[in-house]
Amino acid sequence: MLTDQVASRLHEHLARVYGETVAGETTPRLVAMLEDFARRHPQLASADRALFDETDVVLITYGDQVREPGRPPLETLRDFLTDHLGRTVSGVHLLPHYPSTSDDGFAVSDFGAVDPGLGDWGDVRGLASDFRLMLDAVINHTSASHPWFVRWLCGDPGYADFYLEVDPSTDLSSVTRPRTSPLLTPTWADRWVWTTFSADQVDLNYTNPDVLLAVTEVLLGYVAQGASRLRLDAVGFLWKRPGTSCIHLPETHEIIRLWRTVMDAVAPGTLLITETNVPHRENVTYFGSGTDEAHLVYQFALPPLTLATFHAGDATRLREWAATLETPSPETTFFTFLASHDGIGLRPVEGILDPDEVARLCADVTARGGRISYRAQPDGTRSPYELNSVYLDALGLAGEVEPNVDRFVAAHSILLSLAGVPAVYFQSLFGSRNWAEGADHAGRDRVINRQRFARTTLEAQLADPNSLRRQVLDRLLARIATRTREPAFHPGAAQSVVDGGAGSFAVQRTPQAGESSVVCVHDVSGRAGRFRARPADRLPARGRLVDLCDGSEHGVEADGTVDVDLPAYGVRWLRTT
Ligand code: GLC
Repeated sequence: MLTDQVASRLHEHLARVYGETVAGETTPRLVAMLEDFARRHPQLASADRALFDETDVVLITYGDQVREPGRPPLETLRDFLTDHLGRTVSGVHLLPHYPSTSDDGFAVSDFGAVDPGLGDWGDVRGLASDFRLMLDAVINHTSASHPWFVRWLCGDPGYADFYLEVDPSTDLSSVTRPRTSPLLTPTWADRWVWTTFSADQVDLNYTNPDVLLAVTEVLLGYVAQGASRLRLDAVGFLWKRPGTSCIHLPETHEIIRLWRTVMDAVAPGTLLITETNVPHRENVTYFGSGTDEAHLVYQFALPPLTLATFHAGDATRLREWAATLETPSPETTFFTFLASHDGIGLRPVEGILDPDEVARLCADVTARGGRISYRAQPDGTRSPYELNSVYLDALGLAGEVEPNVDRFVAAHSILLSLAGVPAVYFQSLFGSRNWAEGADHAGRDRVINRQRFARTTLEAQLADPNSLRRQVLDRLLARIATRTREPAFHPGAAQSVVDGGAGSFAVQRTPQAGESSVVCVHDVSGRAGRFRARPADRLPARGRLVDLCDGSEHGVEADGTVDVDLPAYGVRWLRTT
């Protein structure tokens, strides 16, 4: 049974979104759904799950990332990850594994099923038994082939308001767009529907409480199948009100708060992760008060900022920005990453990088074989939305032929040193290059970093100790393993930026429990030199520091200054002995 307190909180959320009358009708239905779930999954209500800790490192992967004949790809994936990562990576973000009709899984045609080409729910539960599993909740829209939409089209009264029908003469010029495709798509009988992402991804109509209940049931279903983290895909677009930007509206935040109350009640420890590829200051609003919205917010600014840092050989921007980072409570942290299945978003650095710095980034990445995807602006023009490239190639500098592995490892060391739950994309961990043929063949630039592999081919490349893939994998795994052993890398450990000059980026991480802090120093200039600075959290005068990366020992000066040599793209994670 839900407590009266939870029921009344649910009522308050619903009343804020729909008003008292609708809330009065909807609350009992929601409560009944949750009580039924709690009866069927009592173990989830009592689960004593830590939210996150320093062992949290997530691999972002497609379900069919690695294939072998005669085996469901999800089973192959689990086996492959166990063979090649052991337990070094503790979490998996499985990109949408549901039946879908486009956008590599993000046009879901059945929320409750596993794409039979990938496997079944048993395979998903198998992954969940080995890894902390994050499932994608693609809940802003459905595929145009989804039965809900088909019923809506057919005029089934049970689905009458499931989608947003809009008069095409409506002024929608103020709507924030992530794409250049038309916002409205005509269906038969001249009915136009709202399609934020593509004609095949039709936005759900959350002004209908039945939609909210149906989607809540979907989320609970994912938790029942073993998801301990839910990625709320494109959640900022959930609620629309023509005449506004139709992004981050108060109702959207209230719905996230409702889902938080739901999870806290029936499956505490289930983390909500909001995916909003928008300017940093907008993104962090999804932390809410620190206890009532997302636990984890995507740290979208880090990928382009890190890229700009290495291209310029200057960490000033990154340092200034990192110094402003904070989260509102111990229950919240960033979901940090450098690369994902998407491109490197450029909106998140609006207000952080100047337009000419962004233009330079675009030029640098396209010079290395990358591509650019655009979005529509209110005035009808288009602006760069994301850079399509694997991160390894995007980090390349002019004139280089081969990727610079030291630079790539240094960039990932920055990722792994910062406060947050870090995620590494499959293509990065396994040292992939741009897949231009794939993108050309598909006619979609995003495919450039979405290559899938035959297991035998990938393993043959990994078997060569000199291969790029082997070197990248070994070095990144070693760095990840180092991170997971240090309490100073708990996502909640304090973080302060250390200024050792423009050519390096350094942070000090200090755990709460009186354990040693770690000073993480990374060269971004590509020139060997010295790093000399005094961390804010005083190190013991004349103490000794051990470098967690290579075991070397270094001294601390009488006033707490650290003075160490730093090779080109070198990394030193220094802890007091
Ligand atoms: C998110 C996904 C992206 C997808 C979009 C629409 O941004 O990461 O891949 O295209 O949502 O679902």
